[in-house]
Amino acid sequence: MSPQDGADRDPHGLARLAELAMAAAVDAGHFIVAQRPLDLGVSSKSTATDVVTIMDARAESRLRELILQARPQDGFFGEEDTRVAGTSGLTWVVDPIDGTVNYLYGLPNYAVSVAVVTGDPAQPGHWAPQAGAVYQPVTGDLFHAHAGGGAWLRYVGHSVSADRAIRVADPQPLAACLIGTGFAYHATTRQEQARVLVELIASVRDIRRAGSAALDLCMVARGQLDAYYERGVHPWDVAAGWLLVAEAGGLVSGMPGEPVGAEGIVAGSPGAHRDLIAALAAFPGGPGPTRAAPIRHP
Ligand code: IPD
Repeated sequence: MSPQDGADRDPHGLARLAELAMAAAVDAGHFIVAQRPLDLGVSSKSTATDVVTIMDARAESRLRELILQARPQDGFFGEEDTRVAGTSGLTWVVDPIDGTVNYLYGLPNYAVSVAVVTGDPAQPGHWAPQAGAVYQPVTGDLFHAHAGGGAWLRYVGHSVSADRAIRVADPQPLAACLIGTGFAYHATTRQEQARVLVELIASVRDIRRAGSAALDLCMVARGQLDAYYERGVHPWDVAAGWLLVAEAGGLVSGMPGEPVGAEGIVAGSPGAHRDLIAALAAFPGGPGPTRAAPIRHP
């Protein structure tokens, strides 16, 4: 099977939306690498550690132009404050550089994340991704998916490879699981996250903090991490990666008791997701039982 197969099983044309997400993500990915200026014009957002470069804003403008030219009836919701209301019921949720700190330091783990969602991405629990792509320009890895169509990885670099299907990792006991996570930009939230990590690290194989939530989710989707969790993520960080994990056979939910949103996200192979949720809920001061936030099809 390839992502183009089964057009009759895709009555909403989600595969075409995924194609647009891929084209936009690759275009912006090449732009942020090729046009990177010496002076990145760094400023800060929510806290001094939450940085933004002029390339975030430029790449977001480029994404908005490309996407809304093709789909003028859709809405747009970007990390760098672009809000366009649409009339179609679909909104493009875009992170022009997910992993901005890595980009700033010249580390390779950053990506462009483009997803199209139903519902209102500003309301946790009231939106769901339908198609999306994550492009890591330094490696050429292009991850893409649409609801019901599987999860795929294509190489887009000096050449372009065929798509190959990706799957989450095989079941492992939590003690043998490699877990990804990330930290918020607020110091007090980070301290709380560190306290949870101190508990969790004793129960798992090891922890990774790679610096891009979108790529962390792609690592879960392709089985390079057994699971990933993080508090304080935004829709643009996770919209495309959420769909990739779900389409790769994994589970995605909010933190125990919450929908996917500011309180966080937990994603993993089914067993790892279940065990990680249980472990997080068991820590002193940890949250209560989970409420899953499944993908709704339009
Ligand atoms: C951040 C990255 C990071 C995660 C933060 C995100 P940004 O996105 O995904 O890994 O830990 O929560 O905000 O700011 O680089 O677009």
